[in-house]
Amino acid sequence: PAPGWSISADVVVVGSGVAGLTAALRCEAAGMNTVVVTKARLDDGSTRWAQGGIAAALGEGDTPEQHLDDTLVAGAGLCDEDAVRILVTEGPDAVRRLIETGAHFDESAEGNLELTREGGHHRRRIAHAGGDATGAEISRALVEAARARGVRTIENALVLDLLTDADGRTAGVSLHVMGEGQHDGVGAVHAPAVVLATGGMGQVFSATTNPSVSTGDGVALALRAGAEVSDLEFVQFHPTVLFLGPDAEGQQPLVSEAVRGEGAHLVDADGVRFMVGQHELAELAPRDIVAKGIMRRMQEQDAEHMFLDARHFGAEMWEHRFPTILAACRAHGIDPVHEPIPIAPAAHYASGGVRTDSRGRTTVPGLYACGEVACTGVHGANRLASNSLLEGLVYAERISADIADSQAGDGLHARVPAPVEHPERPAHPLLGAEARFAIQRIMTEGAGVLRSAESLAKAADQLQRLHAEARDALDENGKTAEPGVDTWEATNLLCVARVLVAAAALREETRGCHWREDHADRDDPAWRRHIVVRLNPDRS
Ligand code: SIN
Repeated sequence: PAPGWSISADVVVVGSGVAGLTAALRCEAAGMNTVVVTKARLDDGSTRWAQGGIAAALGEGDTPEQHLDDTLVAGAGLCDEDAVRILVTEGPDAVRRLIETGAHFDESAEGNLELTREGGHHRRRIAHAGGDATGAEISRALVEAARARGVRTIENALVLDLLTDADGRTAGVSLHVMGEGQHDGVGAVHAPAVVLATGGMGQVFSATTNPSVSTGDGVALALRAGAEVSDLEFVQFHPTVLFLGPDAEGQQPLVSEAVRGEGAHLVDADGVRFMVGQHELAELAPRDIVAKGIMRRMQEQDAEHMFLDARHFGAEMWEHRFPTILAACRAHGIDPVHEPIPIAPAAHYASGGVRTDSRGRTTVPGLYACGEVACTGVHGANRLASNSLLEGLVYAERISADIADSQAGDGLHARVPAPVEHPERPAHPLLGAEARFAIQRIMTEGAGVLRSAESLAKAADQLQRLHAEARDALDENGKTAEPGVDTWEATNLLCVARVLVAAAALREETRGCHWREDHADRDDPAWRRHIVVRLNPDRS
């Protein structure tokens, strides 16, 4: 539908997690007129669910070079080394600036940052807050700062599409604002720079640690706009998610890697520590190795889950160090002080996303991406634990610096974006809201932790059928589902699911978090490359 209202800005930031709010605060501080739009409330994204913490070489004896080494090993040959070097060298100061913005991290009695370990890290380098509520504290601090500094925000706003001018440059976004308020219904924010910071796509699977808003909206928008997307096949499954039954759906409680970092053991139903001997770091091996170790032992024992045993922490340590996880377990009738926690892997993080350069620029001029929606190249085939909050911070800062430079240098301030209509482009067939669950089941069955040519072909076929049904209804009688959050989310999920499955089918090897039953080994150098996808915006 045509926008009913429009406002203008220098920059529009889509999303309000660590990446979005950092970008917005820096743009605002650089004197740019900034608007943040977010699908739900300002603090509703994935950031506030992050537990373990934020990784940076902040401890005595640690160096960015060691952080780089651990990141490259976890990334299984597909990290962009320059992008990682930027992350690890700019990371420590970015964390210090976050502290200056108002985030409080846990400190020792001497006033030094308390640092923990997680999988794949050879050192203690994870800063945390409130024990295991790091994301909640970061989100609180950034939301408060954005409010205090008067950053303009539009909540409950689902961004639909990128607007472009006659030269194909970014001219803003169209959006659908739900509920009461000044900007209700379908409207537009016109701006020469758009920063996508919409988070991940965990909801493409039935069980995930991601909140319900993580529906791949940014990747779907970027694909529709003709931007390049890379590495979508690399979906990270977190090894230790509280097991709530084989049919559990939606967001599941995470049991942070930091619990293993502080000494918890992974055991099978017989109490055997099955990761010992599989990797020099045992339970603290990189995340893909631990997830596979758990899945293999589940298959061997025909079990639905394994256990995380941290009874030896005792009540005091559980209460002080992991209050959030303790409360979540107890809410589900499990007391980790007295019994091992049932856990199983679940979808957690999209290592791929909208392809960017080291300044966060995508392949569409004026469109930027940072945080989980982006593929900066720092994660490769498997993200190192707790590098994601850091990536959001570091690359958001780089983006705001780049926008400030280009608006000063190119006179973009003076350029009033003039979006053009594209009447020749086919309308989007919107899916019914209930398609979300069908997509999740198809993806969990066919493109989950363990994949094969057969399972992926079946998934591709089923997804294609959902698309064709919606397309046919639109073509034959102009029928499409009513536009709204649920129907757009289902439509976006289908869009990212189809690309994810195609990429996973193409990559005939096992690497990082992409695990192929029918191609069990890593295939170097043949597959030491990226799968990059770009759709033609003039075709549906
Ligand atoms: C965790 O706390 O285990 C999650 C950390 C992460 O995903 O980086």
